[in-house]
Amino acid sequence: MERKSPEQIKLHRIDVQFDETLPNHWFGGNAFLTHMLNTWTAIFPDAERYFVRWSKKALAEVTDPKIKKDIQGFIGQETMHATQHEKLWSVLKAQGYNLDPVVWVVGKVAFEWLESVIPDKTNYALVAGLEHFTAMFGEIYFENPELVNQMHPEMKRLFEWHAAEEVEHKAVAYDQLLAIDDSYALRTGVMNVAVVGFYLITLGNTLYFMAQDKSLFKAKEWLTMFDVFFGKYDLARKTVVKFLEYYKPDFHPWDNQNYHLAQPTLAKYEKRAS
Ligand SMILES: [Fe+2]
Ligand SMILES: [Fe+2]
Repeated sequence: MERKSPEQIKLHRIDVQFDETLPNHWFGGNAFLTHMLNTWTAIFPDAERYFVRWSKKALAEVTDPKIKKDIQGFIGQETMHATQHEKLWSVLKAQGYNLDPVVWVVGKVAFEWLESVIPDKTNYALVAGLEHFTAMFGEIYFENPELVNQMHPEMKRLFEWHAAEEVEHKAVAYDQLLAIDDSYALRTGVMNVAVVGFYLITLGNTLYFMAQDKSLFKAKEWLTMFDVFFGKYDLARKTVVKFLEYYKPDFHPWDNQNYHLAQPTLAKYEKRAS
């Protein structure tokens, strides 16, 4: 199978602006969906800066010129994602949410302490594994326009731009890992741990945010969540199918030729500075 990948990974500029008019439940009025994405907004900046640290390190180890060029594009994109998502932190704090526990767990425990005690190759495998998640969610974003149209417009702008770049650079961390160590056991062994950590943090903090605004025990929040993940949009099953692709011995992110999903959005942000 031909694995066509983007010729060049470029920066697409955006400057999102949030203020106190952002509704507490900005995703279709639903607390679960909003707080799941708020949780990602809390964890992305530290995670993405971690990706950037390891990609900068990889530049010294990787020799293939195309992969090196892609890594440079990846570093530029992830750096911007971290800055744009971090802008939302002060708004969430002003809305009364406590982000400190999740930021501490991700920033200090995962990407400071854990990062320093695990071998370098495990770090590269972790970056590749976590990038599989962002690529999956990027694809899900473009496959479900009816769902994402329920986002507050400025949040939608942030997530569509981020989703598009995640699809565009989805193979960079993977190619980077293969260039350093192509062991199947390393890649999947690290993924086994990453999936548990990722979902524990995502679900745990989503519930924590819901408890903070007293939406945790409201039936309507859970009925909508159920419909999105197990009913109308069937996202739980679709996510599992996409996730398991990573375990194919000859898996490569561009086996799934989905760049066309992201291209119109990428073109939109290429043309303008905000
Ligand atoms: Fe990102
Ligand atoms: Fe990414």
